Amino acid sequence: MTESAREPELMQKIVSLCKRRGFVFQSSEIYGGLKSAYDYGPMGVELKRNLMSEWWTFMVTSREDVVGMESSIIMHPDVWRASGHVGNFNDPLVDCLVCQERFRADKAPKVQPGTATPITLADKARAKLAEDKVKALLLAADATGQAVDTIKRDGTTIVGTAAKEREYVCPNCGSPFLSKERNFNGMFRSSLGPTDPMASVIEVLRQGVAEGKTDEELRALADQVMNRSAVFLRPETAQGMFVQFQNVQQSLSIKVPFGIAQMGKSFRNEITVEHFIFRSCEFEQMEMEFFCEPGTGPKWLEYWKEQRRLWWEGLGLKKEKLRFRAHGEDELAHYSDGCFDVEYEFPWGFDELEGIASRTDYDLNAHMIGSKKKLHYFDPEADDPETGKKGYRYVPHVVEPAAGATRGVLAVLCDAYAEELDEQGELSRVVLRLHPRLAPYKVAVLPLVKKDEQLVERARAITEQFLRAGIAAKYDEQHTIGKRYAKHDEIGTPYCLTIDAETLSDTTVTIRFRDDKRQERIPVQRAVEIVAEALRTGRL
Ligand code: GAP
Repeated sequence: MTESAREPELMQKIVSLCKRRGFVFQSSEIYGGLKSAYDYGPMGVELKRNLMSEWWTFMVTSREDVVGMESSIIMHPDVWRASGHVGNFNDPLVDCLVCQERFRADKAPKVQPGTATPITLADKARAKLAEDKVKALLLAADATGQAVDTIKRDGTTIVGTAAKEREYVCPNCGSPFLSKERNFNGMFRSSLGPTDPMASVIEVLRQGVAEGKTDEELRALADQVMNRSAVFLRPETAQGMFVQFQNVQQSLSIKVPFGIAQMGKSFRNEITVEHFIFRSCEFEQMEMEFFCEPGTGPKWLEYWKEQRRLWWEGLGLKKEKLRFRAHGEDELAHYSDGCFDVEYEFPWGFDELEGIASRTDYDLNAHMIGSKKKLHYFDPEADDPETGKKGYRYVPHVVEPAAGATRGVLAVLCDAYAEELDEQGELSRVVLRLHPRLAPYKVAVLPLVKKDEQLVERARAITEQFLRAGIAAKYDEQHTIGKRYAKHDEIGTPYCLTIDAETLSDTTVTIRFRDDKRQERIPVQRAVEIVAEALRTGRL
């Protein structure tokens, strides 16, 4: 697992629980793992699907004005040219020449030219190596115009350097020694079709070299060839809904305002992957595009902000750990005229969980230009504000609540994770206080003694009863009853039912409530009702 030494202790505990209990594994672990790729184990896949299914119910099936769809991951490459993802979403990438960190120049800490730039490494050994590197860099290129003898090391920090023309430093160590900025597009590119574009690339490069072209010109030539057959893995699910706006609207004769929702995988070649599943290259999104009349965007933005707050809170996330953050002018994406992030307080601090943006008519306009197709909506009942006549044709504006499903799983895990101490202050148990509808199992059925065939038979029959009622139940006979309780606390099972000799004679069971460990003797039938009620109300 990627348990970075810098990660707060709580995150390390959650990462470790995820592996121990089958929530999330490092992808391809037996081959050393693939950076930033994760697999969801038996508990994780249930939790993620439950979360996504809650979203679908809340956003689609419980409303009349939102419909669902599922678009392909690989779309026509012109979709990404029109949307601006090919042209506009190029990040300026830089490598730190001291610690080798790769980062985005526009997100790096800013410094004034001439200010001191202390360089701090994680330990003394690294700092010693870094000191030698800084001196070598100064000798080789005199990059900052400084003398080598001003460089001193104090423990893990190297002092004596100052910022020169670059107005930012490495976010990891603070060094002003940086590579040139290179443009980097975060979309994964592949090629479609049976012909390998490499042969043509080699051909144009040979020709380019013979003509004395510069490296940059050669790169552009190679890109041109690659782009002829290039396709991209979608970096957001949103565009699938914009390009199908008209098909959806016309096939259902649905009236604006209405929304199209979809959930699914998105891919971004992230420069910085961090905090376990928080930022990964392959992730899942839950997005909805709400099409509305021009001028009504701000009203719907407020409406969806409130809906999304209610949803996250309804899943049990602590109110004090959720907040909205308005995007500043300089932060807004090129398509947006207003955006709020729903932020959650993760173990490392508040960070984005969902973005709720007013995307204006940018996307539909962009696809009208790109595809040369009209994507207007005609409302025969409304008056055209310009002519005052009945019948209003317009390009709808869009408000988009865009949440991360995998990031949502992490927020839910962080929020639910609790450690309880005994009277001596020692850890007595770890419990995931998951909302019952999110919990992988809703109830565990435990025969007190696994060697007693009658108990086993009865416990299996009760498990069947739950399964037939559509309630995810787990028959569990391994280990002592205490260990079984501990395991189900750690995976967030809200209820455990213990089947003992009394159950055989009077059909009562002991029900144990996850959150307060309370135990009650109740008739079996009542247990089914209690679990069903908790699923309905969300309360244990
Ligand atoms: N269609 C708009 C859009 O994609 P975004 O803010 O880039 O907006 C929406 O993404 C949400 O998707 C984010 O709030 C986050 O929860 C999730 N997300 C984005 N990049 C991610 C990544 N690399 N790993 C995990 N989740 C990510």
